[in-house]
Amino acid sequence: MSQIQDYPSLFSLAGKTAVVTGGSRGLGLHAATGLTLAGCAKLIITSRNASACADAVKSLQSLSTGATTLSLPADLSSPSEVERFVKELAAVTDGKVDILIANAGAVWGEAFDRHSDAAFDKVMNLNVRSVFNLIRLCTPLLERAAKQSGQKARVVTVGSTVGLNIGAIGEHGMYGYAASKAAVLHLTKHLAVELGPRGILLNAIAPGVFPSKMTKGMIALAGGEEDMGKGSPDGRIGKPEDIVGSIVFLCSRAGEHVNGAVLPIDGGKHVVPSTVKL
Ligand SMILES: NC(=O)c1ccc[n+]([C@@H]2O[C@H](COP(=O)([O-])OP(=O)(O)OC[C@H]3O[C@@H](n4cnc5c(N)ncnc54)[C@H](OP(=O)(O)O)[C@@H]3O)[C@@H](O)[C@H]2O)c1
Repeated sequence: MSQIQDYPSLFSLAGKTAVVTGGSRGLGLHAATGLTLAGCAKLIITSRNASACADAVKSLQSLSTGATTLSLPADLSSPSEVERFVKELAAVTDGKVDILIANAGAVWGEAFDRHSDAAFDKVMNLNVRSVFNLIRLCTPLLERAAKQSGQKARVVTVGSTVGLNIGAIGEHGMYGYAASKAAVLHLTKHLAVELGPRGILLNAIAPGVFPSKMTKGMIALAGGEEDMGKGSPDGRIGKPEDIVGSIVFLCSRAGEHVNGAVLPIDGGKHVVPSTVKL
């Protein structure tokens, strides 16, 4: 018989301190919900909008798990704001963070001929540069948590399947966005090698389409959620549980030997050859 150590704790995050950027809504709020339900003791979310953060904190507290939940609003597109955020984070976490979900991101869809430098800059800045700066500045906090707990700290970055395959082109082309998501997936692999020996594991999720403020227009253009889901082998788009399941797996003991991986969450759409009509 295989010797499984303490199966009930395999997916537990009991006692952990976790941080979710862009945790006020959408995929970030799904991730924060999963981390809370899996037992995190302390959860910190951030986004630019203080009142949206406060609402999200309230909804997370209503899960009544006993976790301490708070928000530290910040504009992560600015390097000085990333610095301020990490300083405040260190103060409220005693300098120890077990889990960092680098989720905050922005999209831009515009025709190739009109796609401006400012649009390209905006997505590369928030989706790549600020993720790098955030992870770099959080590394001492993650290292400290790993040392004290004797368990690997975790970073999960949020890429996209458009960073794996070609996404939207034409009128709503996502040129800068696709490049930024491919870049963050590669950065994650790079940092997995750099930080693994320092007790920190890095993995990325690559979601397909999930309903959120970001994708509302795109889903409407496709004719709604049901029609949008038809392009995927499992016939649907994403739902909150899909994010929760993958985040909890990657951050728990169950994911302890997974490092430098990219987990597509799209029902298999990313492996459908373009010649196959579903
Ligand atoms: N939804 C999808 O189908 C999908 C698919 C693949 C990948 N993704 C990725 O998943 C992540 C979340 O997307 P979502 O769909 O949940 O989008 P969303 O609903 O627009 O949420 C984005 C979150 O990031 C925050 N944010 C945006 N700019 C920020 C900034 N400068 N500083 C700090 N926080 C900022 C937003 O809050 P504020 O605006 O208040 O700051 C919000 O909390 C993104 O990285 C996105 O690229 C989404």
